[in-house]
Amino acid sequence: MPSTSSTEWVNPLRDSHDKRLPQIAGPSGMVIFGVTGDLARKKLLPAIYDLANRGLLPAGFTLVGFGRRSWSKCDFEDYVRTAVEAGARTKFRENVWERLAEGMHFVEGAFDDDAFDRLAATLKEMDSTRGTAGNWALYLSVPPDYFSQVCHQLQRSGMAEASPRSWRRVIIEKPFGSDHATARELNQVVNSVFPEESVFRIDHYLGKETVQNILALRFANQLFDPLWNSHYVDHVQITMAEDFGLGGRAGYYDGIGAARDVIQNHLIQLLALVAMEEPAAFDPTELQAEKIKVLRATSPVHPLNKTTARGQYAAGWQGSEQVKGLREEEGFDPESTTETYAACTLQVNTRRWAGVPFYLRTGKRLGRRVTEIAIVFKQAPHQPFAERQITSLGNNAVVIRVQPDEGVLMRFGSKVPGSTMEVRDVNMDFSYAEAFTEESPEAYERLILDALLDESSLFPTNEEVELSWKILDPILEYWAVQGQPEEYSSGTWGPDGADRMLTRSGRTWRRP
Ligand code: BG6
Repeated sequence: MPSTSSTEWVNPLRDSHDKRLPQIAGPSGMVIFGVTGDLARKKLLPAIYDLANRGLLPAGFTLVGFGRRSWSKCDFEDYVRTAVEAGARTKFRENVWERLAEGMHFVEGAFDDDAFDRLAATLKEMDSTRGTAGNWALYLSVPPDYFSQVCHQLQRSGMAEASPRSWRRVIIEKPFGSDHATARELNQVVNSVFPEESVFRIDHYLGKETVQNILALRFANQLFDPLWNSHYVDHVQITMAEDFGLGGRAGYYDGIGAARDVIQNHLIQLLALVAMEEPAAFDPTELQAEKIKVLRATSPVHPLNKTTARGQYAAGWQGSEQVKGLREEEGFDPESTTETYAACTLQVNTRRWAGVPFYLRTGKRLGRRVTEIAIVFKQAPHQPFAERQITSLGNNAVVIRVQPDEGVLMRFGSKVPGSTMEVRDVNMDFSYAEAFTEESPEAYERLILDALLDESSLFPTNEEVELSWKILDPILEYWAVQGQPEEYSSGTWGPDGADRMLTRSGRTWRRP
Protein backbone atom coordinates (compact mmCIF):
# COMPACT_ATOMS: atom_id res chain seq x y z
CA MET A 1 0.00 0.00 0.00
CA PRO A 2 1.43 3.42 -0.89
CA SER A 3 2.80 5.36 2.05
CA THR A 4 1.90 8.98 2.74
CA SER A 5 5.41 9.99 3.80
CA SER A 6 6.52 13.07 1.91
CA THR A 7 9.32 11.26 0.08
CA GLU A 8 7.18 8.44 -1.15
CA TRP A 9 4.30 8.02 -3.54
CA VAL A 10 1.03 9.56 -2.39
CA ASN A 11 -2.44 9.06 -3.74
CA PRO A 12 -3.63 12.66 -3.42
CA LEU A 13 -7.30 11.96 -3.70
CA ARG A 14 -7.41 9.11 -1.17
CA ASP A 15 -5.17 11.09 1.13
CA SER A 16 -7.34 14.19 1.02
CA HIS A 17 -10.47 12.05 1.16
CA ASP A 18 -9.38 10.50 4.46
CA LYS A 19 -8.59 13.81 6.10
CA ARG A 20 -11.40 15.99 4.84
CA LEU A 21 -14.58 14.04 4.37
CA PRO A 22 -17.30 16.02 2.62
CA GLN A 23 -19.77 17.63 4.98
CA ILE A 24 -23.14 15.99 5.57
CA ALA A 25 -26.25 18.11 5.02
CA GLY A 26 -28.22 18.99 8.16
CA PRO A 27 -31.93 18.17 8.67
CA SER A 28 -33.71 19.13 5.46
CA GLY A 29 -35.89 18.13 2.56
CA MET A 30 -36.31 19.00 -1.09
CA VAL A 31 -39.35 19.70 -3.25
CA ILE A 32 -38.87 19.15 -6.98
CA PHE A 33 -41.28 21.03 -9.25
CA GLY A 34 -41.26 19.34 -12.65
CA VAL A 35 -40.19 16.01 -11.20
CA THR A 36 -41.57 14.10 -14.21
CA GLY A 37 -39.34 16.00 -16.63
CA ASP A 38 -36.17 14.78 -18.33
CA LEU A 39 -33.75 16.64 -16.10
CA ALA A 40 -35.23 15.27 -12.88
CA ARG A 41 -35.36 11.72 -14.23
CA LYS A 42 -31.90 11.66 -15.77
CA LYS A 43 -29.90 13.84 -13.38
CA LEU A 44 -31.58 15.06 -10.19
CA LEU A 45 -33.10 11.83 -8.87
CA PRO A 46 -29.98 9.71 -9.54
CA ALA A 47 -27.84 12.43 -7.91
CA ILE A 48 -30.03 12.44 -4.79
CA TYR A 49 -29.69 8.67 -4.52
CA ASP A 50 -25.89 8.90 -5.00
CA LEU A 51 -25.68 11.44 -2.19
CA ALA A 52 -27.76 9.15 0.04
CA ASN A 53 -25.54 6.23 -0.88
CA ARG A 54 -22.43 8.21 0.05
CA GLY A 55 -24.00 8.99 3.43
CA LEU A 56 -24.19 12.73 2.73
CA LEU A 57 -27.91 13.26 3.30
CA PRO A 58 -29.44 13.60 6.77
CA ALA A 59 -31.29 10.65 8.28
CA GLY A 60 -34.77 12.14 7.78
CA PHE A 61 -34.14 13.54 4.30
CA THR A 62 -37.47 13.96 2.55
CA LEU A 63 -38.11 14.24 -1.14
CA VAL A 64 -41.40 15.71 -2.27
CA GLY A 65 -42.32 15.47 -5.94
CA PHE A 66 -44.83 17.94 -7.35
CA GLY A 67 -46.58 17.35 -10.67
CA ARG A 68 -49.81 16.89 -12.57
CA ARG A 69 -49.89 13.08 -12.53
CA SER A 70 -52.35 11.30 -10.22
CA TRP A 71 -49.67 9.34 -8.46
CA SER A 72 -49.76 7.62 -5.08
CA LYS A 73 -46.66 7.51 -2.88
CA CYS A 74 -46.06 4.02 -4.30
CA ASP A 75 -46.26 5.20 -7.92
CA PHE A 76 -43.81 7.98 -7.15
CA GLU A 77 -41.40 5.56 -5.46
CA ASP A 78 -41.55 3.25 -8.51
CA TYR A 79 -40.84 6.16 -10.81
CA VAL A 80 -37.88 7.36 -8.74
CA ARG A 81 -36.50 3.84 -8.41
CA THR A 82 -36.55 3.33 -12.19
CA ALA A 83 -34.75 6.67 -12.65
CA VAL A 84 -32.17 5.79 -10.01
CA GLU A 85 -31.51 2.29 -11.36
CA ALA A 86 -31.00 3.73 -14.82
CA GLY A 87 -28.93 6.78 -13.93
CA ALA A 88 -27.17 6.49 -10.58
CA ARG A 89 -23.39 6.57 -10.56
CA THR A 90 -23.00 4.43 -7.46
CA LYS A 91 -24.14 0.88 -6.85
CA PHE A 92 -27.81 0.27 -6.07
CA ARG A 93 -28.15 -0.85 -2.45
CA GLU A 94 -31.53 -1.99 -1.22
CA ASN A 95 -31.06 -0.70 2.35
CA VAL A 96 -30.07 2.80 1.15
CA TRP A 97 -32.99 2.84 -1.24
CA GLU A 98 -35.49 1.78 1.44
CA ARG A 99 -34.37 4.52 3.81
CA LEU A 100 -34.60 7.12 1.04
CA ALA A 101 -37.98 5.84 -0.20
CA GLU A 102 -39.49 6.15 3.29
CA GLY A 103 -39.11 9.90 2.95
CA MET A 104 -40.72 10.22 -0.48
CA HIS A 105 -44.05 11.93 -1.11
CA PHE A 106 -45.91 13.11 -4.13
CA VAL A 107 -48.25 16.08 -4.30
CA GLU A 108 -50.51 16.13 -7.34
CA GLY A 109 -51.53 19.43 -8.84
CA ALA A 110 -51.10 22.30 -11.27
CA PHE A 111 -49.65 25.65 -10.23
CA ASP A 112 -52.88 26.78 -8.53
CA ASP A 113 -53.78 27.89 -5.00
CA ASP A 114 -55.28 24.60 -3.98
CA ALA A 115 -52.23 22.51 -4.95
CA PHE A 116 -49.80 24.90 -3.26
CA ASP A 117 -51.86 24.90 -0.07
CA ARG A 118 -51.74 21.10 -0.06
CA LEU A 119 -47.99 21.22 -0.66
CA ALA A 120 -47.52 23.66 2.24
CA ALA A 121 -49.53 21.32 4.50
CA THR A 122 -47.36 18.37 3.40
CA LEU A 123 -44.16 20.23 4.27
CA LYS A 124 -45.54 21.08 7.74
CA GLU A 125 -46.48 17.46 8.29
CA MET A 126 -43.00 16.31 7.21
CA ASP A 127 -41.41 18.80 9.57
CA SER A 128 -43.08 17.09 12.50
CA THR A 129 -42.95 13.47 11.30
CA ARG A 130 -39.57 13.38 9.51
CA GLY A 131 -37.62 16.02 11.39
CA THR A 132 -36.96 18.24 8.37
CA ALA A 133 -37.10 21.17 10.81
CA GLY A 134 -38.61 23.64 8.35
CA ASN A 135 -35.51 23.49 6.10
CA TRP A 136 -36.57 23.10 2.49
CA ALA A 137 -34.80 23.43 -0.85
CA LEU A 138 -37.35 24.22 -3.55
CA TYR A 139 -36.06 23.01 -6.91
CA LEU A 140 -37.68 24.67 -9.95
CA SER A 141 -37.03 22.22 -12.75
CA VAL A 142 -39.82 23.77 -14.83
CA PRO A 143 -39.89 25.78 -18.07
CA PRO A 144 -38.97 29.43 -17.40
CA ASP A 145 -42.48 30.61 -18.33
CA TYR A 146 -43.63 29.16 -15.01
CA PHE A 147 -40.89 30.62 -12.78
CA SER A 148 -42.80 33.69 -11.82
CA GLN A 149 -46.08 31.84 -11.19
CA VAL A 150 -44.34 29.27 -8.98
CA CYS A 151 -42.45 31.98 -7.07
CA HIS A 152 -45.64 33.90 -6.42
CA GLN A 153 -47.47 30.77 -5.32
CA LEU A 154 -44.62 29.91 -2.96
CA GLN A 155 -44.90 33.38 -1.49
CA ARG A 156 -48.71 33.33 -1.21
CA SER A 157 -48.79 29.94 0.47
CA GLY A 158 -46.09 30.97 2.95
CA MET A 159 -43.57 28.42 1.67
CA ALA A 160 -40.98 30.99 0.63
CA GLU A 161 -40.55 32.25 4.15
CA ALA A 162 -38.48 30.51 6.78
CA SER A 163 -38.84 30.91 10.51
CA PRO A 164 -35.88 32.47 12.36
CA ARG A 165 -34.38 29.03 12.96
CA SER A 166 -35.02 27.38 9.61
CA TRP A 167 -34.21 28.09 5.98
CA ARG A 168 -35.86 28.13 2.56
CA ARG A 169 -33.74 28.08 -0.61
CA VAL A 170 -34.84 28.15 -4.20
CA ILE A 171 -32.81 26.31 -6.82
CA ILE A 172 -33.43 27.47 -10.38
CA GLU A 173 -32.50 25.81 -13.63
CA LYS A 174 -31.58 27.76 -16.72
CA PRO A 175 -32.55 29.37 -19.02
CA PHE A 176 -32.54 32.58 -16.97
CA GLY A 177 -34.26 34.69 -19.58
CA SER A 178 -33.55 34.94 -23.29
CA ASP A 179 -31.67 38.25 -23.26
CA HIS A 180 -30.51 40.88 -20.80
CA ALA A 181 -33.94 42.50 -20.40
CA THR A 182 -35.83 39.26 -19.73
CA ALA A 183 -33.10 37.99 -17.37
CA ARG A 184 -33.41 41.22 -15.41
CA GLU A 185 -37.19 40.88 -15.18
CA LEU A 186 -36.84 37.31 -14.03
CA ASN A 187 -34.28 38.21 -11.40
CA GLN A 188 -36.60 40.92 -10.15
CA VAL A 189 -39.44 38.44 -9.75
CA VAL A 190 -37.27 35.86 -7.99
CA ASN A 191 -35.64 38.45 -5.75
CA SER A 192 -39.01 39.92 -4.80
CA VAL A 193 -39.81 36.57 -3.21
CA PHE A 194 -36.43 35.20 -2.10
CA PRO A 195 -33.43 37.21 -0.88
CA GLU A 196 -30.43 36.78 -3.20
CA GLU A 197 -28.56 34.65 -0.63
CA SER A 198 -31.39 32.08 -0.79
CA VAL A 199 -31.32 31.83 -4.60
CA PHE A 200 -29.17 29.08 -6.12
CA ARG A 201 -28.98 29.33 -9.91
CA ILE A 202 -27.69 26.12 -11.41
CA ASP A 203 -24.98 26.14 -14.05
CA HIS A 204 -24.10 22.48 -13.95
CA TYR A 205 -20.73 23.10 -15.64
CA LEU A 206 -19.52 24.70 -12.40
CA GLY A 207 -20.26 21.43 -10.60
CA LYS A 208 -17.83 19.51 -12.82
CA GLU A 209 -14.55 18.57 -11.14
CA THR A 210 -12.48 19.59 -14.13
CA VAL A 211 -14.04 23.03 -14.18
CA GLN A 212 -13.17 23.53 -10.53
CA ASN A 213 -9.68 22.32 -11.40
CA ILE A 214 -9.19 25.45 -13.53
CA LEU A 215 -8.89 27.36 -10.27
CA ALA A 216 -6.59 24.76 -8.71
CA LEU A 217 -4.37 24.77 -11.78
CA ARG A 218 -4.13 28.54 -11.86
CA PHE A 219 -3.96 29.44 -8.20
CA ALA A 220 -2.35 26.45 -6.46
CA ASN A 221 0.68 26.42 -8.78
CA GLN A 222 3.56 28.70 -9.56
CA LEU A 223 4.08 27.21 -13.00
CA PHE A 224 1.23 28.74 -14.97
CA ASP A 225 0.47 32.17 -13.66
CA PRO A 226 3.59 33.96 -14.97
CA LEU A 227 2.59 32.91 -18.51
CA TRP A 228 -1.17 33.49 -18.10
CA ASN A 229 -1.37 36.90 -19.83
CA SER A 230 -1.15 38.75 -23.12
CA HIS A 231 2.66 38.75 -23.11
CA TYR A 232 2.71 35.00 -23.68
CA VAL A 233 -0.81 33.91 -24.66
CA ASP A 234 -1.73 34.27 -28.33
CA HIS A 235 -5.39 33.33 -27.94
CA VAL A 236 -7.78 31.08 -26.00
CA GLN A 237 -10.18 28.54 -27.55
CA ILE A 238 -13.14 27.27 -25.56
CA THR A 239 -14.91 24.39 -27.27
CA MET A 240 -18.03 22.48 -26.30
CA ALA A 241 -18.77 19.97 -29.04
CA GLU A 242 -21.53 17.39 -28.97
CA ASP A 243 -22.03 14.46 -31.30
CA PHE A 244 -25.80 14.16 -30.92
CA GLY A 245 -28.74 16.08 -32.32
CA LEU A 246 -31.91 17.54 -30.91
CA GLY A 247 -34.46 14.80 -31.51
CA GLY A 248 -37.06 15.10 -28.72
CA ARG A 249 -35.93 18.55 -27.50
CA ALA A 250 -37.69 20.74 -30.05
CA GLY A 251 -40.04 22.20 -27.42
CA TYR A 252 -37.15 23.70 -25.51
CA TYR A 253 -34.56 24.33 -28.22
CA ASP A 254 -36.40 25.72 -31.25
CA GLY A 255 -36.05 29.49 -31.08
CA ILE A 256 -33.41 29.25 -28.31
CA GLY A 257 -30.36 27.99 -30.20
CA ALA A 258 -26.81 27.11 -29.26
CA ALA A 259 -25.67 30.54 -28.04
CA ARG A 260 -28.50 30.99 -25.54
CA ASP A 261 -28.42 27.32 -24.57
CA VAL A 262 -24.76 27.04 -23.63
CA ILE A 263 -22.59 30.07 -24.51
CA GLN A 264 -24.49 32.51 -22.27
CA ASN A 265 -23.99 30.23 -19.28
CA HIS A 266 -21.49 27.34 -19.48
CA LEU A 267 -18.93 28.82 -21.90
CA ILE A 268 -18.95 32.35 -20.51
CA GLN A 269 -18.51 30.90 -17.01
CA LEU A 270 -15.50 28.94 -18.30
CA LEU A 271 -14.10 32.14 -19.78
CA ALA A 272 -14.56 33.91 -16.44
CA LEU A 273 -12.67 31.19 -14.57
CA VAL A 274 -9.82 31.23 -17.08
CA ALA A 275 -9.53 35.03 -17.20
CA MET A 276 -10.33 36.17 -13.63
CA GLU A 277 -7.76 37.45 -11.16
CA GLU A 278 -6.90 35.51 -8.01
CA PRO A 279 -9.64 35.96 -5.39
CA ALA A 280 -8.62 37.41 -2.02
CA ALA A 281 -10.05 34.28 -0.38
CA PHE A 282 -11.68 31.13 -1.56
CA ASP A 283 -15.18 32.01 -0.53
CA PRO A 284 -18.35 32.79 -2.50
CA THR A 285 -18.14 36.56 -2.08
CA GLU A 286 -14.56 36.89 -3.27
CA LEU A 287 -14.91 34.38 -6.09
CA GLN A 288 -18.06 35.99 -7.41
CA ALA A 289 -16.51 39.45 -7.12
CA GLU A 290 -13.59 38.41 -9.33
CA LYS A 291 -15.85 36.75 -11.88
CA ILE A 292 -18.02 39.85 -12.01
CA LYS A 293 -14.99 42.07 -12.61
CA VAL A 294 -13.89 40.00 -15.55
CA LEU A 295 -17.39 39.76 -17.03
CA ARG A 296 -17.72 43.52 -16.84
CA ALA A 297 -14.54 43.82 -18.89
CA THR A 298 -15.67 41.31 -21.55
CA SER A 299 -17.31 42.23 -24.85
CA PRO A 300 -17.65 40.92 -28.40
CA VAL A 301 -15.01 41.80 -30.97
CA HIS A 302 -16.39 43.67 -34.02
CA PRO A 303 -17.26 43.55 -36.88
CA LEU A 304 -19.61 40.70 -36.06
CA ASN A 305 -19.84 39.45 -39.65
CA LYS A 306 -16.15 38.54 -39.40
CA THR A 307 -15.86 37.53 -35.73
CA THR A 308 -18.88 35.27 -35.30
CA ALA A 309 -20.32 32.24 -37.08
CA ARG A 310 -23.48 30.23 -36.77
CA GLY A 311 -24.76 27.10 -38.40
CA GLN A 312 -27.49 24.51 -38.46
CA TYR A 313 -26.86 20.80 -38.90
CA ALA A 314 -28.04 19.18 -42.09
CA ALA A 315 -28.38 15.46 -42.72
CA GLY A 316 -25.18 13.48 -42.66
CA TRP A 317 -23.35 10.61 -41.01
CA GLN A 318 -22.68 10.37 -37.31
CA GLY A 319 -20.16 7.55 -37.27
CA SER A 320 -21.90 4.73 -39.12
CA GLU A 321 -25.40 6.10 -38.55
CA GLN A 322 -27.19 8.18 -41.14
CA VAL A 323 -28.91 11.08 -39.36
CA LYS A 324 -31.50 13.75 -40.18
CA GLY A 325 -30.97 17.48 -40.44
CA LEU A 326 -32.46 19.77 -37.80
CA ARG A 327 -35.36 20.86 -39.98
CA GLU A 328 -36.40 17.24 -40.54
CA GLU A 329 -36.31 16.46 -36.80
CA GLU A 330 -39.74 15.98 -35.23
CA GLY A 331 -41.18 19.13 -33.72
CA PHE A 332 -38.90 21.58 -35.53
CA ASP A 333 -40.28 24.13 -37.93
CA PRO A 334 -39.02 23.23 -41.44
CA GLU A 335 -38.18 26.95 -41.79
CA SER A 336 -36.44 27.09 -38.41
CA THR A 337 -33.61 29.61 -38.17
CA THR A 338 -32.44 28.22 -34.83
CA GLU A 339 -28.67 27.77 -34.79
CA THR A 340 -27.21 24.48 -33.61
CA TYR A 341 -23.66 25.80 -33.96
CA ALA A 342 -22.44 29.10 -32.62
CA ALA A 343 -18.99 30.65 -32.47
CA CYS A 344 -17.92 34.08 -31.35
CA THR A 345 -14.84 36.13 -30.56
CA LEU A 346 -14.74 37.91 -27.22
CA GLN A 347 -12.17 40.25 -25.74
CA VAL A 348 -11.35 40.85 -22.10
CA ASN A 349 -10.37 44.46 -21.72
CA THR A 350 -7.96 44.24 -18.80
CA ARG A 351 -4.24 44.75 -18.49
CA ARG A 352 -3.77 40.96 -18.35
CA TRP A 353 -5.77 40.14 -21.48
CA ALA A 354 -5.78 43.18 -23.77
CA GLY A 355 -5.43 42.03 -27.40
CA VAL A 356 -5.95 38.31 -26.70
CA PRO A 357 -8.97 36.92 -28.54
CA PHE A 358 -11.14 34.38 -26.71
CA TYR A 359 -12.78 32.14 -29.30
CA LEU A 360 -15.88 30.31 -28.04
CA ARG A 361 -17.63 27.62 -30.09
CA THR A 362 -20.30 25.05 -29.50
CA GLY A 363 -22.32 22.77 -31.71
CA LYS A 364 -24.58 19.77 -31.94
CA ARG A 365 -23.90 16.83 -34.25
CA LEU A 366 -20.19 17.58 -34.55
CA GLY A 367 -17.37 15.09 -35.02
CA ARG A 368 -17.20 14.01 -31.37
CA ARG A 369 -18.29 14.97 -27.88
CA VAL A 370 -15.61 17.02 -26.20
CA THR A 371 -15.36 20.11 -24.00
CA GLU A 372 -11.96 21.72 -23.65
CA ILE A 373 -10.20 25.00 -23.02
CA ALA A 374 -6.98 25.57 -24.95
CA ILE A 375 -4.61 28.32 -23.88
CA VAL A 376 -2.53 28.75 -27.02
CA PHE A 377 0.82 30.50 -26.55
CA LYS A 378 2.71 32.77 -28.88
CA GLN A 379 5.59 31.37 -30.89
CA ALA A 380 9.01 31.73 -29.29
CA PRO A 381 10.39 35.12 -30.35
CA HIS A 382 13.50 33.53 -31.81
CA GLN A 383 14.23 30.03 -33.12
CA PRO A 384 17.89 29.10 -33.67
CA PHE A 385 16.75 26.20 -35.89
CA ALA A 386 16.56 26.15 -39.66
CA GLU A 387 13.09 26.23 -41.24
CA ARG A 388 13.22 22.54 -42.28
CA GLN A 389 14.09 21.51 -38.71
CA ILE A 390 10.84 22.89 -37.28
CA THR A 391 8.36 22.43 -40.12
CA SER A 392 5.80 20.58 -38.00
CA LEU A 393 6.10 22.76 -34.93
CA GLY A 394 2.92 24.51 -33.80
CA ASN A 395 2.22 26.80 -30.87
CA ASN A 396 2.71 25.62 -27.31
CA ALA A 397 -0.60 25.03 -25.57
CA VAL A 398 -2.09 24.10 -22.22
CA VAL A 399 -5.36 22.28 -22.80
CA ILE A 400 -7.80 21.69 -19.97
CA ARG A 401 -9.97 18.75 -20.99
CA VAL A 402 -13.28 19.19 -19.23
CA GLN A 403 -14.76 16.00 -20.72
CA PRO A 404 -14.38 13.20 -21.65
CA ASP A 405 -10.88 11.88 -20.68
CA GLU A 406 -10.78 14.59 -18.02
CA GLY A 407 -7.29 15.98 -17.59
CA VAL A 408 -4.74 18.57 -18.62
CA LEU A 409 -2.49 18.36 -21.63
CA MET A 410 0.61 20.39 -22.43
CA ARG A 411 1.80 20.65 -25.98
CA PHE A 412 5.37 21.65 -26.72
CA GLY A 413 8.20 21.00 -29.17
CA SER A 414 10.66 18.18 -28.63
CA LYS A 415 13.59 16.82 -30.56
CA VAL A 416 12.77 13.82 -32.70
CA PRO A 417 15.20 11.00 -31.81
CA GLY A 418 17.94 10.57 -34.43
CA SER A 419 21.15 12.05 -35.66
CA THR A 420 19.57 15.14 -37.24
CA MET A 421 18.00 18.05 -35.40
CA GLU A 422 14.26 18.02 -36.00
CA VAL A 423 11.75 19.48 -33.55
CA ARG A 424 8.15 18.32 -33.49
CA ASP A 425 5.12 18.81 -31.22
CA VAL A 426 4.55 16.31 -28.42
CA ASN A 427 1.91 16.04 -25.68
CA MET A 428 2.40 15.67 -21.97
CA ASP A 429 -0.83 14.35 -20.59
CA PHE A 430 -2.30 14.33 -17.09
CA SER A 431 -5.37 12.14 -16.80
CA TYR A 432 -7.72 12.23 -13.82
CA ALA A 433 -8.59 8.58 -14.27
CA GLU A 434 -4.94 7.53 -14.00
CA ALA A 435 -3.89 9.89 -11.23
CA PHE A 436 -6.82 9.40 -8.89
CA THR A 437 -8.47 6.17 -7.92
CA GLU A 438 -11.88 7.57 -7.06
CA GLU A 439 -14.45 8.47 -9.67
CA SER A 440 -15.53 12.14 -9.70
CA PRO A 441 -19.00 12.88 -8.36
CA GLU A 442 -21.57 14.01 -10.92
CA ALA A 443 -21.97 17.78 -11.20
CA TYR A 444 -25.53 17.61 -9.85
CA GLU A 445 -24.43 15.65 -6.79
CA ARG A 446 -21.99 18.38 -5.88
CA LEU A 447 -24.43 21.20 -6.56
CA ILE A 448 -27.42 19.71 -4.75
CA LEU A 449 -25.26 19.01 -1.71
CA ASP A 450 -23.80 22.54 -1.81
CA ALA A 451 -27.30 24.05 -1.93
CA LEU A 452 -28.33 21.99 1.12
CA LEU A 453 -25.15 23.13 2.88
CA ASP A 454 -25.66 26.79 1.93
CA GLU A 455 -22.35 26.80 0.06
CA SER A 456 -22.91 29.17 -2.87
CA SER A 457 -19.44 29.44 -4.48
CA LEU A 458 -20.42 27.37 -7.50
CA PHE A 459 -23.67 29.18 -8.25
CA PRO A 460 -23.74 32.26 -10.53
CA THR A 461 -25.30 35.35 -8.98
CA ASN A 462 -28.01 37.50 -10.60
CA GLU A 463 -25.31 39.98 -11.60
CA GLU A 464 -23.19 37.33 -13.33
CA VAL A 465 -26.23 36.13 -15.26
CA GLU A 466 -27.18 39.64 -16.36
CA LEU A 467 -23.60 40.48 -17.35
CA SER A 468 -23.29 37.40 -19.52
CA TRP A 469 -26.46 38.36 -21.36
CA LYS A 470 -25.03 41.84 -21.86
CA ILE A 471 -21.99 40.28 -23.54
CA LEU A 472 -24.10 38.08 -25.80
CA ASP A 473 -26.98 40.44 -26.66
CA PRO A 474 -25.23 42.36 -29.50
CA ILE A 475 -24.35 39.06 -31.19
CA LEU A 476 -27.90 37.72 -30.84
CA GLU A 477 -29.34 40.95 -32.21
CA TYR A 478 -26.99 40.81 -35.17
CA TRP A 479 -27.88 37.17 -35.93
CA ALA A 480 -31.61 37.84 -35.54
CA VAL A 481 -31.63 39.79 -38.81
CA GLN A 482 -29.35 37.46 -40.77
CA GLY A 483 -31.96 34.84 -41.83
CA GLN A 484 -31.01 31.19 -42.16
CA PRO A 485 -27.80 30.01 -40.52
CA GLU A 486 -25.21 28.33 -42.74
CA GLU A 487 -25.73 24.56 -43.03
CA TYR A 488 -23.10 22.02 -42.03
CA SER A 489 -23.22 18.28 -42.52
CA SER A 490 -23.78 16.23 -39.40
CA GLY A 491 -20.60 14.56 -38.19
CA THR A 492 -18.31 17.38 -39.39
CA TRP A 493 -16.76 20.22 -37.34
CA GLY A 494 -19.31 22.90 -38.16
CA PRO A 495 -19.91 25.51 -40.88
CA ASP A 496 -17.15 26.87 -43.13
CA GLY A 497 -17.85 30.32 -41.69
CA ALA A 498 -16.39 29.17 -38.38
CA ASP A 499 -13.12 28.22 -40.05
CA ARG A 500 -13.00 31.52 -41.92
CA MET A 501 -13.55 33.33 -38.63
CA LEU A 502 -10.15 32.05 -37.44
CA THR A 503 -8.16 31.83 -40.66
CA ARG A 504 -8.71 35.56 -41.18
CA SER A 505 -6.32 36.13 -38.31
CA GLY A 506 -3.95 33.34 -39.39
CA ARG A 507 -5.19 30.91 -36.75
CA THR A 508 -7.02 27.58 -36.89
CA TRP A 509 -9.36 25.71 -34.57
CA ARG A 510 -7.81 22.88 -32.65
CA ARG A 511 -9.11 19.51 -33.78
CA PRO A 512 -9.82 17.95 -30.36
C1 BG6 B 1 -27.23 21.68 -21.12
C2 BG6 B 1 -27.74 22.07 -22.49
O1 BG6 B 1 -27.15 22.81 -20.30
O2 BG6 B 1 -25.94 21.10 -21.23
C3 BG6 B 1 -27.73 20.88 -23.43
O3 BG6 B 1 -29.08 22.56 -22.38
C4 BG6 B 1 -26.37 20.22 -23.44
O4 BG6 B 1 -28.10 21.28 -24.74
C5 BG6 B 1 -25.92 19.92 -22.01
O5 BG6 B 1 -26.45 19.02 -24.20
C6 BG6 B 1 -24.52 19.35 -21.99
O6 BG6 B 1 -24.18 18.97 -20.70
P1 BG6 B 1 -22.98 17.96 -20.45
O7 BG6 B 1 -22.79 17.97 -18.98
O8 BG6 B 1 -23.44 16.63 -21.00
O9 BG6 B 1 -21.82 18.49 -21.21
